[in-house]
Amino acid sequence: MNQEIWNRTEWFRKERFGMFIHWGLYAIPALGEWVMSEKRMTVEEYEKYFEQFDPTDYNPREWARLAKKAGMKYAVLTAKHHDGFCLFDSALTDYKATNTKAGRDLVREFLDAFRAEGLKVGLYFTLIDWHHPDYPKYNDMHHPMRGNEAYKDENINFDRYLEYMHGQVEELVTNYGKLDILWFDFSYDNMCEDTWKAEELIRMVRKHQPDVIIDNRLEGSGEKNGSIVTDHPNIYSGDFASPEMIIPPGGMKDLNGKPIPWELCATMNNHWGYCYYDHTYKTSQTIIRKLVECVSKGGNFILNVGPDAKGRIPKESQEILTQVGEWMEQNGESLYECGISEYDKPEWGRYTQKGNTVYAHIYETPLGALPLYGISPQEVGTITFLSSGAQVQRGEAWNTAMYSDTPFVALGENPVFSYPLPDEIDTVLKIELKK
Ligand code: GLC
Repeated sequence: MNQEIWNRTEWFRKERFGMFIHWGLYAIPALGEWVMSEKRMTVEEYEKYFEQFDPTDYNPREWARLAKKAGMKYAVLTAKHHDGFCLFDSALTDYKATNTKAGRDLVREFLDAFRAEGLKVGLYFTLIDWHHPDYPKYNDMHHPMRGNEAYKDENINFDRYLEYMHGQVEELVTNYGKLDILWFDFSYDNMCEDTWKAEELIRMVRKHQPDVIIDNRLEGSGEKNGSIVTDHPNIYSGDFASPEMIIPPGGMKDLNGKPIPWELCATMNNHWGYCYYDHTYKTSQTIIRKLVECVSKGGNFILNVGPDAKGRIPKESQEILTQVGEWMEQNGESLYECGISEYDKPEWGRYTQKGNTVYAHIYETPLGALPLYGISPQEVGTITFLSSGAQVQRGEAWNTAMYSDTPFVALGENPVFSYPLPDEIDTVLKIELKK
């Protein structure tokens, strides 16, 4: 792992929880952000959404308050997705929010609003563009016009596309103040690295935004997790790995077995962009436990919302995020600035750790006293319920004496009795180690 990357990502590795926002014209057909490709729509067919786009309820200040209330510390908005539509006021295209009924630079408003709420800000920008005439079509595996004979012998000038794409990135990194994260999406086939002129692109970005944190999707996926796992990554290898819709079973490590920065990105239902029929939402319990899992494996979690065509975050998402926030308010300390514990995963849940403080995340109701697996009895100092600060009794009793190398705690007064967990989502104990 490269030291410069480790240092640059310090705040990111501390803040742990962010909001991803996928929003664009695709909120109108409301079938997710890939609809143009999935339905093989021509630019003309898709442009009707451009004419229609009128997000009268767009209020990023409300989004920011919701994110903050949920305990999120940063947010990343899709400045441009694969359909090529720009939420920002790019001088290089007319296909932008300023030319819709919205009539404003929606990225600028997002940035202002989230910064005002004290959150760090990032922009998602895709390397792909299904609207640009010079992007490959017939032989491209994702383009809406793939395999369409009309585009078979078309002459395109890919350099012109690259100039456009680099130019837009330059606009984003020069016109909007300090960005904390740049989230590039994505490489496939031979559409990676040199094809994107990735080195030139990132040199330009770093010139304007030396501290911005960048994901790892400019690199092809040939090498396992890219060269970010080596001591000498490419300049475009990125600062963190971006596993999508999966928590890496063992966290993410470099070639020497040392943890690297990584961030799970995942949806709340099963779509990134708004989908009118998708009500398959994860519960707040699932989200909280997955966030705990990420942190216990040294990673972050950026959780997605897909606002609708009017600019509203779906009601279900709002409710779930509010519940997550209630838990975070009382228990966030066990995640922020925390990471992998020196102790192995306990059977009843997970440990996270910050210095000499271990946080026990209990998911399973114990029978009698709860064993604090892995920790030695001499190491255990004060133990409290994180949510209330109330002391937790040690659970040593006649029937625990046989297991003298394991300390026990009792969730009620009598250690041989059983008590329901005070918080079924995740009851957190704060354990101070005597070291
Ligand atoms: C994918 C999809 C995309 C989504 C992204 C988020 O690569 O193409 O629609 O924006 O993942 O990680």
